[in-house]
Amino acid sequence: MAEKINTLSTKHLLGIKDLTTRDIELIFETADTFKDVLNRPIKKVPSLRDVTIANIFFENSTRTRLSFELAQKRLSADTVNFAASSSSVSKGETLIDTVNNILAMKVDMVVMRHPYPGAGIFLSKHVNAQIVNAGDGAHEHPTQALLDAFSIREKYGDVSGKKVAIIGDILHSRVALSNILCLQKLGAEVMVCGPSTLIPKYIGSLGVKIEHDLLKALNWCDVANMLRIQLERQDIKYFPSLREYSMMYGLNKQILNSLDKEIIVMHPGPINRGVEITSDVADSKQSIILDQVENGVAIRMAVLYLLANQRSQ
Ligand code: CP
Repeated sequence: MAEKINTLSTKHLLGIKDLTTRDIELIFETADTFKDVLNRPIKKVPSLRDVTIANIFFENSTRTRLSFELAQKRLSADTVNFAASSSSVSKGETLIDTVNNILAMKVDMVVMRHPYPGAGIFLSKHVNAQIVNAGDGAHEHPTQALLDAFSIREKYGDVSGKKVAIIGDILHSRVALSNILCLQKLGAEVMVCGPSTLIPKYIGSLGVKIEHDLLKALNWCDVANMLRIQLERQDIKYFPSLREYSMMYGLNKQILNSLDKEIIVMHPGPINRGVEITSDVADSKQSIILDQVENGVAIRMAVLYLLANQRSQ
């Protein structure tokens, strides 16, 4: 039997695109161990005692930022946090200058969220630190996809063979692309569903099914991952009104109960209750939204731990 590889194939985590299926499995196996740690009375291990991590966020975040911070604390890393709005970026400092100044303070790893697609890739080529992409514009959000797939695996035992419908604003979503790549690497079938204006033309080339009818998508899938309409990234109108969008693509309890099988409902957050999902669905037993958030800490611990191990390779 072939020996299992126990190191990641990549120095940075810039996107799911760069991960092998074995990398993803290794992250999940490591996250299983850390999930056990998180359920103990003392939720802390000394694994990253010698590592300093800077969290630099050029865009708002609740889940990702807090989850990375908690993951770092649980691993005993030293951390510094940087919010662009209160930094010298507002005085015209460049991204490279900002990060190099942070690195001069002996930082090993940078976790970055940035509004521009490819910002993490750019940074990885210009600064001497490991980069973790915490979301770059409408490009990738790799740790979100990992925690989503991990949550499906936890619920069903395996991701392979599962049918996952990603529903909503695919065009502006970094979660959609990372989820598609991650789920396909794990052997799932993926469908995207939404109005044609919110589905990018290239998406078919990724080998996903495309559906514009919500009920058909729900009848097909085992898992519905509902995405938020990203109004902050929309400079033109893609549908007549939020009310009409909600009537056509909002998931409510009546639709969920009309299906002849029980599906699970996911959402990366933040939720817009009453737009893409109603409260009675978001808070139902079919929803695993808070399990996703819980799993995010274990997944991010696994990613940071495995990347830090790369330093000694
Ligand atoms: N899912 C997600 O990225 O949420 P935040 O924007 O709150 O980090």
